[in-house]
Amino acid sequence: MEPMPGTVTDIVSAAAGGAVFDHGVFAAHEQVVFVHDPGSGLRAIIAVHSTALGPALGGARFFPYRTEADALADVLRLSQGMTAKAALAGLELGGGKAVIIGDARATRSDALITAFGRMVERLGGRYITAEDVGTTVADMDLIRRSTRHVVGTSPAGGGLGDPSPSTALGVFVAMEAVAAHSFGNPSLAGRHVAVAGVGKVGAALAGLLAAAGARLTVADLDDARARQVARDSGAEQAGPDEIHTLACDIYAPCAMGGALSRRTIPRLSCRAVVGAANNQLAEPAAAELLDRAGIVYAPDYVVNAGGLIHVAAEHFRLAATDLSSRVRAIGPTVTAILAAARTAGTTTAAAADRLAQARVANGNAVSSQKGDV
Ligand code: NAI
Repeated sequence: MEPMPGTVTDIVSAAAGGAVFDHGVFAAHEQVVFVHDPGSGLRAIIAVHSTALGPALGGARFFPYRTEADALADVLRLSQGMTAKAALAGLELGGGKAVIIGDARATRSDALITAFGRMVERLGGRYITAEDVGTTVADMDLIRRSTRHVVGTSPAGGGLGDPSPSTALGVFVAMEAVAAHSFGNPSLAGRHVAVAGVGKVGAALAGLLAAAGARLTVADLDDARARQVARDSGAEQAGPDEIHTLACDIYAPCAMGGALSRRTIPRLSCRAVVGAANNQLAEPAAAELLDRAGIVYAPDYVVNAGGLIHVAAEHFRLAATDLSSRVRAIGPTVTAILAAARTAGTTTAAAADRLAQARVANGNAVSSQKGDV
């Protein structure tokens, strides 16, 4: 039977092709909530992918999606990714995400953000929100007034501030792990590292690498920024269009996603890729192409988990030393993934996904035993 226009069936089939509960990525989710506050204009979707390991933590993205189906697809994909990221970061957290539909610059208001906070509160702690594209630390401080299930607030609001230094530390220890595995020595002294994008994370990473005695080349679309970081860290500077082609030991994408594609991979001249950028693989085939080219790829969501660990520390009220040791644990995780890929003859991306699934399944078993399903 054709769905009736305007009914729930109609909306749902438009979003997911008519078979919602069996629909690929949707089927994997525990809970997906559409929230609407007509007074403020809030239209948002909160997706809880998994709470097997703990409450689902993930940022709230404020974005002008073209259609509601695009928003749904994005929130489902992102929340699933958060489960894997938290699991491999060794956190007792699940995966979730929220999307607020609209152009933040045109439609954001304090009333809308506060309404979103109330919706998060109604989930009773199953979902913990945080900053993401289009939302700010100030928004999180505002949300904090409606719910305690929020992290990424300002130091004045009880938070831990900018997570970028933790992210950079995680990338640095991931590089040491790759160096030990692939070059036979964890030391980065004398290794040539090419950092593409020296914003908050890339600049902090350049500082750590310079202190470790690495040879550095940096690039940024913002030439003044690249020049400044090159001066501060004793690096050479390259153009943003050529940095990925440099002959080097490690290429570190620290700008936008999609750096590794059919087009760029044949032009790489590095031995390993270890960087902070999210979604570095522009297409699934990219992991295979890197493998075939003999380039070791440390999966981005493992390498850049320092930011998540940083905001999670706010939730768990960890001391600074605990935060640092948890970020440093990214190193052994990368080592385990590289070893598993070598043993199983798979790509490192596949090995990471498999390890994440095993950790979540194990968490599921433990929580079922506790009767906490
Ligand atoms: P940012 O916005 O501070 O820095 C990005 C830098 O990349 C900017 O200086 C920009 O000019 C430059 N850039 C943009 N396109 C470029 C290109 N094509 N070539 C060279 N440079 C380019 O961002 P941030 O916070 O440093 O994040 C960097 C990456 O790491 C992003 O992909 C982000 O999603 C990811 N990430 C950041 C975390 C954090 O704690 N800040 C946590 C986890 C992931």
